[in-house]
Amino acid sequence: LTGEWRARIAAAPDLASLEAERVAALGKQGAVTGLLKTLGGMTPEERQSEGPRIHALREAVTEAIGARKAALEAAELERKLATETLDMTLPMPTGEQGSVHPVSQVMDELAEIFADLGFSVATGPEIEDDWHNFTALNIPESHPARAMHDTFYFGADKDRDGKRMLLRTHTSPVQIRTMQAEKPPLRIIAPGRTYRSDSDATHTPMFHQVEGLVIDRGTHLGHLKWTLETFLKAFFERDDIVLRLRPSYFPFTEPSAEVDVGYTVQNGRRVVGGSDGWMEVLGSGMVHPRVIAACGLDPDEWQGFAFGCGIDRLAMLKYGMDDLRAFFDGDLRWLRHYGFSS
Ligand code: PHE
Repeated sequence: LTGEWRARIAAAPDLASLEAERVAALGKQGAVTGLLKTLGGMTPEERQSEGPRIHALREAVTEAIGARKAALEAAELERKLATETLDMTLPMPTGEQGSVHPVSQVMDELAEIFADLGFSVATGPEIEDDWHNFTALNIPESHPARAMHDTFYFGADKDRDGKRMLLRTHTSPVQIRTMQAEKPPLRIIAPGRTYRSDSDATHTPMFHQVEGLVIDRGTHLGHLKWTLETFLKAFFERDDIVLRLRPSYFPFTEPSAEVDVGYTVQNGRRVVGGSDGWMEVLGSGMVHPRVIAACGLDPDEWQGFAFGCGIDRLAMLKYGMDDLRAFFDGDLRWLRHYGFSS
């Protein structure tokens, strides 16, 4: 009987027929199960001789089924490996992917360019006090420059002087914080958010500036001009960048210069390089001795230059974007249009 079952099981061509054999032998109505049931009606002597034979049969059948099952499964796997292929042409399910924002991209580029010139990156708070944003920068209470800044003030929070706290209107307070915290010589840039109550196609209430500050002995206007030229050539990746320094006025620099960069018109669009026209890109100057003194340094020993530049503006010029407000809408289609999203 054992040999008969072994042969049937070994001959099962697939898993389904094997399962049928298992039911036929070991299922509730199965033949082997039926034999086991007969043990109950036997005399003790019969049981003693038949019991071990029937149990041995059940064991042999169970073992044979297990072995056949393993063999069939292995063969099935072999067959799958040999015949099944992956369909690489099936489209992947895609989700929306974010990317580096052009403003962040430009900030990274600036940090890299200035790192090569020996500048480190400094930061300061966006919620400033009156002294750091204005007074220490030689903009006293009555100064008309205060009115030009369209400052956002906080209603209740006052600083140590009893003045209202404000959202910094420029990154220049980081000049003050750096000179107070570190010993010169200093070479820093300070990129970050700035705020003015102003809004149209080229102004948003929140915008970005990068401040530059060098404090050293014997620093002069030539160092400023060389630094700006080197920076703008590296940033726009062009050698034909022409700068024009126009005498100007800032309370915290003396002398002061507004810096224009030359452009040419290509396909109705202003492209930096050449000098068919001029665009203002930044404000700069030699740090006013009063500012140096306000930070506790001796202006007879230390001089330096500073500049402040709109980052959003730089991004628009470099990447050919024309509406500043779109920068802060968070619309992926806009980012994608300019190649900033995957
Ligand atoms: N803080 C000035 C502005 O926001 C820019 C500036 C910075 C000018 C440093 C001179 C020196 O317009």
